[in-house]
Amino acid sequence: MLSGLGRRISYPSGVPAQAADARHTRINATIGQVTDGAGGALVLPRVRELLGSLEAEDAVLYAAQGGEPSLRAAWAQWQARDPRVARAARSLPLVTQGLTHALSIVSDLFVDPETRVLVPEPCWGNYRGCLGLRRGAAVDSYPLLQGDRLAVDEIARTLAKDSRPKVVVVNLPSNPVGFTPTQAEAEALAEVLRSAPGPLVVVCDDAYLGMGWEPDLLQGSFFGLLEGADPERLLAVKVDGATKELFLFGARVGFLTFHAEPEVAAVLEDKAKAVARATVSSMSRMGQELVLQTLKQAELHTQREAIRRVLAGRYRALRAAMEAHDLEAYPFNSGFFALVKVAEPEAVRRRLLERGVGVVAFPEVGAVRLSYGSVSEADVTELVSELAAAIAHVARPVATPSHDPVASPS
Ligand SMILES: Cc1ncc(COP(=O)(O)O)c(C=O)c1O
Repeated sequence: MLSGLGRRISYPSGVPAQAADARHTRINATIGQVTDGAGGALVLPRVRELLGSLEAEDAVLYAAQGGEPSLRAAWAQWQARDPRVARAARSLPLVTQGLTHALSIVSDLFVDPETRVLVPEPCWGNYRGCLGLRRGAAVDSYPLLQGDRLAVDEIARTLAKDSRPKVVVVNLPSNPVGFTPTQAEAEALAEVLRSAPGPLVVVCDDAYLGMGWEPDLLQGSFFGLLEGADPERLLAVKVDGATKELFLFGARVGFLTFHAEPEVAAVLEDKAKAVARATVSSMSRMGQELVLQTLKQAELHTQREAIRRVLAGRYRALRAAMEAHDLEAYPFNSGFFALVKVAEPEAVRRRLLERGVGVVAFPEVGAVRLSYGSVSEADVTELVSELAAAIAHVARPVATPSHDPVASPS
């Protein structure tokens, strides 16, 4: 399954490795950072002030390569809320600089120009850059939907089309559709992937995990449904993070986890760490500390539920407004998005901009995407009526211009 780079790379025994060996020494003359000589940070007073209740050492000194061990353990525990994930043999989550970085590590480790990369259609556009362009691989797509359901049969047909090594992205809840299938549909897809000929790397992009607004949707991560898959043929990789799950967008804390027995997990972890070392090196310690302290607090569930309730309220308001205006969307039930079908997405987007309303055009699927993550419930109705008006405006026949040479300006 490994790419050429994935096969070649291993974690170097340079400064970080030797500094890690010396972490508990009496005199530590290894690492190029400035301390008081006893492990304490020497910090500018203004920075100390800005750190508030964070310990300076936990914010300004270098983080361990691969992420702070305490955060990695805490995130593994967070993931284990999902009993299937808890049961799966998996590596300790490796800290990455947001989910995008986790995807780019996956790409470096598993994608070569001849690898067949399969992403859902519609999908988050950055997969093409991250998994395709950077590695010179052509990105194909599989249809996410067949009517209102997960396109399991179509996905099976797409997979069977050729026998090259494959990297397949499964993103549920999906961006940009805001769709999560039922448990049964998701299980059927897992079965298709489990029985597909390998080598197959299944990347479960769990960015929006836990953001479901309807009953009877897949509960937990798709990664858990691949538990126990034949490791000779299929490697499941979980990409998740604090970005959306903890609403910590700017902290840039993501995670990369492999479904593998300990020996293999150790090798993959070593290689992933090596890729990270060669690109961004260690990740922001401050971001990691924020996430760790957030995960540790007893009120996390209650505080998170309060924001989830806000999102659920916006979702319901959006559904109601769309019904009132008779707008058609791809099926949406989760995440922060609705993909509304329009005949001329770019023209509608431009018209909305003139009206002071921002949306994203997806011309390739004839739609515009509304993110209710960033629109208050009070504004949702206006957003939808502006959209309906823009659609009507764009569809209006253009008045035939006069050809009277006298009346025409020169
Ligand atoms: C499906 C999906 N995956 C990954 C990401 C990237 O997350 P991050 O901002 O942590 O890099 C996003 C961000 O919008 C996303 O929608």
